[in-house]
Amino acid sequence: MKLWGGRFTKETNQLVHNFNASLSFDQKFYKQDINGSIAHVTMLAKQGILTDDERDTIIAGLKGIEADITSGVLEFDEAQEDIHSFVEAVLIDRIGTVGKKLHTGRSRNDQVALDMRLYTRDEIDELDKLLYDLLKTIYNIMEANLTTYMPGFTHLQKAQPVTLAHHFGAYFEMFLRDRDRLKDIRKRMNYCPLGAGALAGTTYPLDRAYTAFLLSFDGPTRNSMDSVSDRDYLLETLSALSICMMHLSRFCEEIIIWNSNEYRFVDIDDSYSTGSSIMPQKKNPDIAELVRGKTGRVYGALTSLLTTMKGIPLAYNKDMQEDKEMTFDAIDTVKGCLALFTGMIATMKFNNEVMEASAKNGFTNATDAADYLVNHGVPFRDAHGIIGQLVLLCIEKDISLDELSLEEYKKISPVFEEDIYEAIRMQTCVERRNTIGAPGLTAMQEVLNVYKNYLNQ
Ligand code: ARG
Repeated sequence: MKLWGGRFTKETNQLVHNFNASLSFDQKFYKQDINGSIAHVTMLAKQGILTDDERDTIIAGLKGIEADITSGVLEFDEAQEDIHSFVEAVLIDRIGTVGKKLHTGRSRNDQVALDMRLYTRDEIDELDKLLYDLLKTIYNIMEANLTTYMPGFTHLQKAQPVTLAHHFGAYFEMFLRDRDRLKDIRKRMNYCPLGAGALAGTTYPLDRAYTAFLLSFDGPTRNSMDSVSDRDYLLETLSALSICMMHLSRFCEEIIIWNSNEYRFVDIDDSYSTGSSIMPQKKNPDIAELVRGKTGRVYGALTSLLTTMKGIPLAYNKDMQEDKEMTFDAIDTVKGCLALFTGMIATMKFNNEVMEASAKNGFTNATDAADYLVNHGVPFRDAHGIIGQLVLLCIEKDISLDELSLEEYKKISPVFEEDIYEAIRMQTCVERRNTIGAPGLTAMQEVLNVYKNYLNQ
């Protein structure tokens, strides 16, 4: 019989049961469900609602169930509706009547609200570790490539020279913000909904602050109706994860481009590449493409839950059961993507000479050549025009700016002297950019120091 079978005279239609049941997916948080129950009965005993003996028997029973699920001895029973009903039914089966006291002063509405919070909080901690590993990997690559010159792009056109460290630093900032966002969410969501009951609290003298303390929350939630129907923390988590996937996807897109035959800036390691079944020469960046592709599914989870939530009146409604599968899938997807992406860049080979040659060939020093003229008294707009003419000349001759002769320079402007070559050297171009946030070595070293402290704290 169902938990709630008392009021019913007929068995549930099998299709209704299947449609309504959530055990196939909410079994994912059996540990959190059992921990929540242990805290609940501990509090009930402290308040004199259960005896110490009853508490101990129930807790021993719950721990046994947890151990047996973990070891695989206890299999989930499809006849049960959800993880909450399953655990309670097994408990009663194992310890008898006293097991029926577990659910005193509690509803599945506040129970599921608690379980999902506990689960999300644990997963946020896992995500945080994965993001840390990624940041550490990016840091190591930055530290080793402070003077690896490469073209910086705008509109995917070569723009000005930067360094590989600088380019990776942009992603360090993005993933650092992702970590911060999750930290903010964790702080905001860290209040315990247990004790809210079905929607209006309970008549038992529960000590909600104590339950919250036992489960490492910062305190109990303040409104029982909100407690059972709030899914903001899931929307925030899915939103933060969507942004994180967007960052991973952009990075993957760059790596796919850099790994192409036309660029050859990087070589993805064989262990992170795949081949073609027909073209023997191929080594494909499938992992980067898959991470880029999976971004859509995480955005999908966010859109799906936003849509589910938008028309739900207070308080709990069954629609909310739909929060789980998408969220689980999104979290697992992001965890997988973070781990694989970190491994991929940690093993990737950077072709420094190719990147540097590309920066040279793309007139990325044209702004610096114009700045040279400005420093010699030429108004910027005129300097811009003069360098434009020189670039045209180079394109005709298929050479770079530093390969033009001084005579050719002087033909277009007499201001040029021998030191123009020093002024447009790749190294000079980057090293003179030393304002905060720029790619110059001194500026970058300062930022790296900040990152180092951040990673060590
Ligand atoms: N499986 C349900 C869910 O995930 C648990 C809460 C059920 N509550 C109820 N009133 N039917 O939302």
